[in-house]
Formats: sequence, C-alpha cells, structure tokens
Amino acid sequence: MCGIMGYIGHGEASGCITDGLSKLEYRGYDSAGIAVINKRGIEVRKSKGELKNLLEKLDRRPVTGSIGIGHTRWSTHGAPSDINSHPHLSKDKTFAVVHNGIIENYLEIKALLTEKGYRFISDTDTECIAHLLHYNYDGENFFETVRKTLDMLEGAYALGIICKDFPDTIIAAKKDSPLIIGLGKDENYIASDIPAILERTRDVYILDEYELAVVKADSVEIYDINGDPVNKNVFKVEWSLDAAEKGGFEHFMLKEIYEQPRIVKDLALSKLPPAEHRVNLEGISLDKSDLEKINRIYVVACGTAYHAGLLGKYFIEKIARIPVVAEVASEFIYKDPILDESTLVIAVSQSGETADTKEAVKIAKSHNAKVLAVVNAIGSSIAREANEVFYILAGPEIAVASTKAFSAQVTAMYLITCHIAMQMGKMSVLEFEEIKASLYTLPDDIEDVLEKAEEIRAVADKYYKAKNVFFIGRGADYLVSMEGSLKLKEIAYINSEAYAAGELKHGPIAMIEEETLVVAIATQQELFRNTLSNIKEVKARSAKVFGIAVDGNKDMAQECDDVVYIPVTHPMVSPLLANIVSQIFAYYMAYNLGTNIDKPRNLAKSVTVQ
Ligand code: AGP
Repeated sequence: MCGIMGYIGHGEASGCITDGLSKLEYRGYDSAGIAVINKRGIEVRKSKGELKNLLEKLDRRPVTGSIGIGHTRWSTHGAPSDINSHPHLSKDKTFAVVHNGIIENYLEIKALLTEKGYRFISDTDTECIAHLLHYNYDGENFFETVRKTLDMLEGAYALGIICKDFPDTIIAAKKDSPLIIGLGKDENYIASDIPAILERTRDVYILDEYELAVVKADSVEIYDINGDPVNKNVFKVEWSLDAAEKGGFEHFMLKEIYEQPRIVKDLALSKLPPAEHRVNLEGISLDKSDLEKINRIYVVACGTAYHAGLLGKYFIEKIARIPVVAEVASEFIYKDPILDESTLVIAVSQSGETADTKEAVKIAKSHNAKVLAVVNAIGSSIAREANEVFYILAGPEIAVASTKAFSAQVTAMYLITCHIAMQMGKMSVLEFEEIKASLYTLPDDIEDVLEKAEEIRAVADKYYKAKNVFFIGRGADYLVSMEGSLKLKEIAYINSEAYAAGELKHGPIAMIEEETLVVAIATQQELFRNTLSNIKEVKARSAKVFGIAVDGNKDMAQECDDVVYIPVTHPMVSPLLANIVSQIFAYYMAYNLGTNIDKPRNLAKSVTVQ
C-alpha cells in the first residue's frame, strides 16, 4: 500500500512527481502529498482524498524546485486527513519523509522523542521517522543519519527522504516494501512501481532488502545497510507504454478484461510447443527427479490469487492425483504448517508484494520447503524470494480489481498441473493433447465471451439494484463462484456470497426471497443435474436466477430468468470462461451504481501490511 515517487534533476519536480503518483494511485488514494526543496527550504502541499485534490491545491499554490518526493496513501495508522498525509516533516523542517510500510516500534520511538521535547502532530507511524532523523542528525552527514535511523526502525519500509541542507540528494531505503530507482538523463527518480516512471525511462535499479540509494541528478549510488557500496545490474523494462494506459477504455478494469485473450495466447503459445507432448517451463526445476522428492503441496495466496490457487489445487488433485492444501496466506502463516524439504509451496501473487503471501514464502523457505512463485510483477519480492518463478506475463494490472491476472494465474495452474502430471506419468498423451488443444483455442473462446458484453450488460442493467446476491456452483464452478462474488463485492459494494450449490439448503437458503439474485454457474456437465436441482430450489422460493452455462444447454434457459452461454470447451477450462462473464457482469453492475470502479473504496492494489 501507498505509492512513492521522487524526482531529482534540472526540471520542475512537482509535475513529474504528480504524474508518477497518478500511475500509483492503485496503491492507495486516501490522500496525496508532495515536498520539494527550494530557496525557502522544504515546501509541502498535501490533501486528503484522491490525487486530483492535491492537483487543485497545487494549481492554487504551486511549488517550484527541482528535487522532491511525493506520496499517495492507503491509511494504516491514522485516518485519512490532511495532517496524516505524507510527506511528514521533522522538527525545524529539516527532513521530509515519504513512507510505504509499517513501523512496528513507532510507539517506543515516539515516547523516546516526546521525552526529548519533540512534538507530534499526526497519528501516523511515519512522523516518528522524520523526527528520528532530526534527532540523529549531526548537521553534516545525511547518509550516516539515515543509516543510524534505519538501525532503530523495526517493521517494513520503503522510504524517500530529503534534507533541506542537501538540495542535491534524495536518499531512498528499502526493507519489505518495494522501491525502484529510475535512471534518466541528467535526472533520476525513485518510485514504488515501474508504471510511475515508464514514460521517462526504461532503465531501473530494483532495490533489494536493506539497501539504500543515494540519488542525485547525475548519479545513483547503492549501499547496503552497513554503508558498503553495492554493485547492481540495470534492469531494462520491456513493457509498452500502452500497457500502463487506458487505451481508449473508460476504465482500466475494462481494458484489462479485454486484454485477456492476448495474455492467455502468449502464455499458451510460449509454454506449449506445438509438436511436443510437454509443457516448456523454461528454467523452472520441477522435473521428475525434483517431483519425486515432493510428498506434500501447499498453495498459498490472498484474495483473487487465492481463488486461482484453489483452481490449481482442484486441477492438480484431479489430474495429477497429488493431494494439495490450499490456504489463504494470512492463515497459513499462523498455523505452524507442516513443512520440510519434501514440501512444494506454490505462492500465487499478482503484485509479488502481498505481505501475507511474502511471509508465507519466508516461512516455507525457513523450513527448507521448495517455493514456486506464480507472479506477475517482474523482480518483485516474492519472485526474488522463491526458489522458482513462473511469470504469468500479464503486464501491469492497474485496476484494483484483478481480472487479467486471475485468468493468467489460472492458465499457469493448468500448465503447471499438466507439467507435473506428464512428468509423473499421471496423464496420457491423449489427455494432455485434449487440454493443450483447449488452451490453444482459449483465446478465441474468450473473444467469443467478450462479444457478449452487451448481453451481459443487459443482465446487469436489470439487477444492479439487488441488495443480496448468491453465487452458486459445484466443483470448479464453485471455485469461480467465489471469484465472481468477490468481484461484485469489491467494485459494486453489493452484499454477495458464494456457496457450493449443494450447501445452500444447509442454511443460506433461508435468506432467499423475492428480491434475491442467484448467479448460478453450471459449466460442469457431470454435475449439471444436481446444480439444476439447486436452481429449482431457489426458483421455488422466488429468487431471480442468472445462469452461466455452456452452449447448447437448453435446460438452463428453461429454469433461469437470464442465461449467458459460453463456448463448449474442455470442462477444466470452462470455469475460466464463466468467470469472464462474472467479471463483465460485476463491471456493469458497478458502472450502473456509479462506483469508483478502478479505485474502489477502502482497497489498495497491493496489500503490503499483514
Ligand atoms: C482482487 O480483485 C483483489 N483486489 C485482491 O483480492 C488481490 O487479489 C489480493 O490482495 C492479492 O494480491 P496479489 O495477487 O498482488 O498478491
């Protein structure tokens, strides 16, 4: 959570920083702020709410200066307010700090500094860093002051720091929260994520744990926490600029939904060589001899990534016949899970920065388990911590509600499953070729679903005032019901629950009444008769039913109030298509309700706190 952007060069810092922050708002949008150094010292502007409030303030009262730091906030300590917004200033306005993370010992630091006469004005943990810098400052050495201060901090931080006595230097530091340094011509940048600087440079340093960067207009030096210089390779960003822009769509979420055919196609083509009966997992050590050492698999993840992980469990158990435990990472880390060198932990994360998933990976590694990360963000913490990485290559996902990453994660799970099953001799060539053929045609099948957007929109137009929604399904359909329900909750703020269709009559059916909408996902032929009975049960209690079924299923049209059909494909693949219907449905439900679709209330794209 929280986005950091900093600029140092010969141009105006303010515009560059706010441009960068506009690409980072997905990380939080409770408030935004900026601090620059000019001949008056450090000048700050900040404002509660979205970045546009800060921009209005800057229009009225501009700040000039060619060095500055900025921040967009997702609140943890202290409610969203002007005062709690970053940057935070130290006593005497000597230092300004922007911070992403949580300082766990801030109360102790605050007590120490209060005793020494420091006065705190905000409720944040970050303000203690600003005053601590002042407390440790000898009036001469900026770098040593930062190092000494970091030594006293416990918790997670990505920091951008400026000091009024050093108008040619930004110091950046990282522990457990992401931070990159963008390398420009006669100017350099710090940022929480690549989209913030993509318009200006493609050359970046990705800071590792406990690293500090001393950033000037014409140089960047990296050090470890002991002050020893670190040699780093420049990482070249290959994304197109378009990938981080809306490209004509009204919202990033819609754009990302429409990117799915291409992403799935790239994945399938690159991993499934046409003339071979194998998955090409390039560089991932998961061959027969590795797999023979594994006797337990965990899948850990949060939110949407967890739903992709649940599908992974379903595929691996059904196809490769290996038992898998899927856990939300926030539970896994407190459970003392059974882990050793014969455990494979598959960690799924779009951002690669989710605190709970990251912690799960650390725990797994500390028990010598092998960790395979299924990650989108290249060079992210989870990708670097894991033993093996499967990059889903979905490009930057900006909308807070994850769509394209989910489809890419699920596709990755098909590929990993087929790989394991083929290596372990649990799948015939014929079965492999059937799934492979359905993955080859998946991009076209997704296109077919996207062509039904208007049909799906019409269903949303009918039901967007629903107050209670149930998503039901059986088997893999139940798992995508969970994802459909989450999407509706997070962007349309509609109370929605996912239930295994057969479980409804064990309690929740009491909630069904005339206004209740039931979204019934029924793509699994072998389970269809049972699901149909459950649809009849809710119909008999006057619910409205929106069905999602496979082409040719006439029973659904007879029983449901509305049905959207998806193309016929392999039963393992159809839930992914059904989920695309749910994505579009949630989008138009939210659209009709006028919510902030790309930046839903209370959420942040990457949850870097536990
Ligand atoms: C998805 O729409 C959510 N915004 C959220 O559940 C997300 O999937 C979760 O926070 C995990 O994020 P990650 O994939 O970046 O780890």
